[in-house]
Amino acid sequence: MPSDFHKLQIAGIIQETHDTRSYILAVPESLRKEFRYRAGQFLTFEVPWEGMQLRRCYSLSSAPGIDPWPKVTVKRVDDGRVSNWFNDSVRVGDSILVQPPEGRFSMRSNEGDHGIVLFGGGSGVTPVLSILKSALRTTERDVKLIYANRDERSIIFKDEIDLWLAEFPKRLEAIHHLDSDSGFMSVADVQEHIRGWEDAEFFVCGPTGYMDTVEEAFKASDIDAVQTKFERFISPIDADRKDESAVVVPEQSDDEIPEPFKMLLESQSHDVPYEKGLTLLASAIKAGHKPPSSCEDGYCGCCMALLKSGKVNMANHDALEPSDIERGWVLPCQARPSSQEPIEIDFDAEY
Ligand code: FES
Repeated sequence: MPSDFHKLQIAGIIQETHDTRSYILAVPESLRKEFRYRAGQFLTFEVPWEGMQLRRCYSLSSAPGIDPWPKVTVKRVDDGRVSNWFNDSVRVGDSILVQPPEGRFSMRSNEGDHGIVLFGGGSGVTPVLSILKSALRTTERDVKLIYANRDERSIIFKDEIDLWLAEFPKRLEAIHHLDSDSGFMSVADVQEHIRGWEDAEFFVCGPTGYMDTVEEAFKASDIDAVQTKFERFISPIDADRKDESAVVVPEQSDDEIPEPFKMLLESQSHDVPYEKGLTLLASAIKAGHKPPSSCEDGYCGCCMALLKSGKVNMANHDALEPSDIERGWVLPCQARPSSQEPIEIDFDAEY
């Protein structure tokens, strides 16, 4: 079972642009601890839509200790069920079902004074703005934001970014790229923007094409994958559309069932019994543990863990980059053992 949903009240709505609004959430005293978050994390919402309950994740655009309340920002999407529901139906004072914050798209703790380079495309600026604010206020690190938009009127948080530039003129640099003026950002553009920042920590969030371009530029510029983090939000498949896109998971044969597997969770090592057919996450939950999880569908990435030994098959790994998989990251909500080799997974590993 994913963590519980809680009812939170919408304390305020900000019309950011013609098609984007921010929603400020009031967190009661009794839930403050559960709703503590790190800059760059996201919230999962469950909303009513034509007789169904649909789930979506939205990044926090607020930053802890800087903005008084958590805030998410939602842009309309053509035919987007939940994004349009938010923009059309949610009013101040409404209550909404929300899971506590999750996600690993946040600053590493051991980066010293290395710079931070943030790539945001359209509403993908949301988690990178959160990181920008937190980095400027809580560290001494220099920050560069490269923010791409279709046109001038699509720029979300333009005024807020200007205010941060005014407060930190020596530590913050912001580059606005408008497709209407110069076409889509190219690999060469990205390489130019990161020149001189090669030892920085990089964060990328935006539409798929934009993220692919940035990733290609990182490779061309020899940026180590360890320095980069990508946040891809893939919508879950709603219940009424599930049949159209069923994923075929290879059957496990009996000689693929390992002994209990080792799991490191919150600095404790556990031996978790494994039963044929279950995922690693389901096994851990069945054994009474509470590893992080949200969608349990392979799209949010919040259950990510490092596979230290053994082999698994994943039904879906949309939330992972190929470089994540190469480095051993798995989605335990999707992972089933595919050999008898002993398995060890680490939920505490730093991404
Ligand atoms: S819980 Fe969402 S990817 Fe595993």
